[in-house]
Amino acid sequence: MAREWLADAAFYQIYPQSFYDANGDGIGDIPGITEKLDYVAELGCNALWICPCFDSPFKDAGYDVRDYRRVAPRYGTNDDLVHLMDEAHARGMRVLLDLVPGHTSEEHPWFRESARAEANELSGRYIWTDSAFVGTPQRPSIAGECERDGCYMVNFFKCQPALNYGWSDPSEPWMSALDAPEALATREALKDVMRFWLDRGADGFRVDMADFLVKDDDEERVGNTAIWQDVRRMLDEEYPECVLVSEASRPWWAIPAGFDVDFYLDHPGNGYNTLLRDGGGQGEDHSFFRCGAGGDARRFLDDYLPRLEAVRGKGYVALVTCNHDTPRATRTLGQRELALAWATLLTLPGPPFVYYGDEIGMRYLDLPTKEGGYARTGSRSPMQWGPGANLGFSTAPAEELYLPVDDAADAPTVEAARADAGSLWHVVHDVLALRHRTPELQADGPFELAAVREDGSAFAYRRGALTLAVNPSPTPWELAVEGEAAPAYLIGEATASETGLVLGPQSFVICQGPPHPPV
Ligand code: NOJ
Ligand code: CA
Repeated sequence: MAREWLADAAFYQIYPQSFYDANGDGIGDIPGITEKLDYVAELGCNALWICPCFDSPFKDAGYDVRDYRRVAPRYGTNDDLVHLMDEAHARGMRVLLDLVPGHTSEEHPWFRESARAEANELSGRYIWTDSAFVGTPQRPSIAGECERDGCYMVNFFKCQPALNYGWSDPSEPWMSALDAPEALATREALKDVMRFWLDRGADGFRVDMADFLVKDDDEERVGNTAIWQDVRRMLDEEYPECVLVSEASRPWWAIPAGFDVDFYLDHPGNGYNTLLRDGGGQGEDHSFFRCGAGGDARRFLDDYLPRLEAVRGKGYVALVTCNHDTPRATRTLGQRELALAWATLLTLPGPPFVYYGDEIGMRYLDLPTKEGGYARTGSRSPMQWGPGANLGFSTAPAEELYLPVDDAADAPTVEAARADAGSLWHVVHDVLALRHRTPELQADGPFELAAVREDGSAFAYRRGALTLAVNPSPTPWELAVEGEAAPAYLIGEATASETGLVLGPQSFVICQGPPHPPV
């Protein structure tokens, strides 16, 4: 069973480089996040996920950790992070840090030691073959870089050597069994990193590439399950409140393995992908939320509902507005389309995640790559707070910013969005407020599909006594709703009809009462 506080959690994801620069050096920082906690709370989010903020050479924006126990100097100090977590707790908010268990930076002292020719205590901390001329299967590997005569496996970019948690099938002499001393030592080192931040106030972790620790694992991920169940046993004993959120997009695996929440990510061919950015920017875009694009809700529902069912009562599937790896939905959707999308995503089961800036419809920018971002860089630009220099992100000269701020004359800002009652910001704010007051709309609330329009261009769902319906299409949809048809929340138009209501084009509604007749 997942940790209790998740039932009413709404997360805000922060990319620390780009959120708020408190000391004017051009890059976001931890004190900047602390200064903006009241803003996050006002929006309606009561939990944070902060992307890696640890010491790193930043070849992958901090996902290449050099020291797990030290805040990167560019963001501040360990004390600053502890202070941020204290301040969050004082406001009833929780903080998840980003745990990168599968690899370190090539500059991590563990790797430096492991790469030495002489055998030493850390020789087995990473995955090395016995010869620089023999590569590793399953994943890319690198040879000829180190004095050690071997080839080491990488987990992602070249700068990210894979940590050794052992193999399900140790068929080569250089592979460790899952319970080999060196593999167990890596596991213990990981637990110690977790303890370090849990002791200092972290409420849990978002776990990077959670189902890739054991490299030859099968579809069931048996080896990875064994590792995370062991980690969870430690947590149950020592930190029972610790929340784990997996980047796996395999809830049927992640929840039994010990995670509380699993992200539903935009992996090719899955249902989430068909909502906002079908076709990934290439080919035909039939996104459900794109008005008139011919989207079909069943492409999402047929993939999403079995995921929900698989973990019901045990854990959650988390829907995200975006994240630092995916293009912001503004690349293809307008403000009204986004309003419908966010209202829907924020009222489905599981704890929602709002990516910073999505509440004001920040644009996906065409930016040159930064710190291994490549196409992802366009989703990582500085938060737009208000009018004036750098849109309030930093007092540094514009050319010294981590990334350029959106320079469009109509770039949205928090200040303008808050002042405009019809803005996207108010949609996020109002829907989250309603969610916090209404247990049925929260993570554990009941969920049932109520109706799908014949052509798939709209659908309705029930959460307890509430009926919610979304119609992103350009034509009205007549929906039978029994009882109180007066909307508790509305975007667009909903008018009473003889049998219920007509939901206007590009509209979203929450009303009391079940649909009638049951569909
Ligand atoms: C997933 C992270 O979200 C991404 O940003 C990173 O580059 C890879 N994992 C490697 O850690
Ligand atoms: Ca700074």
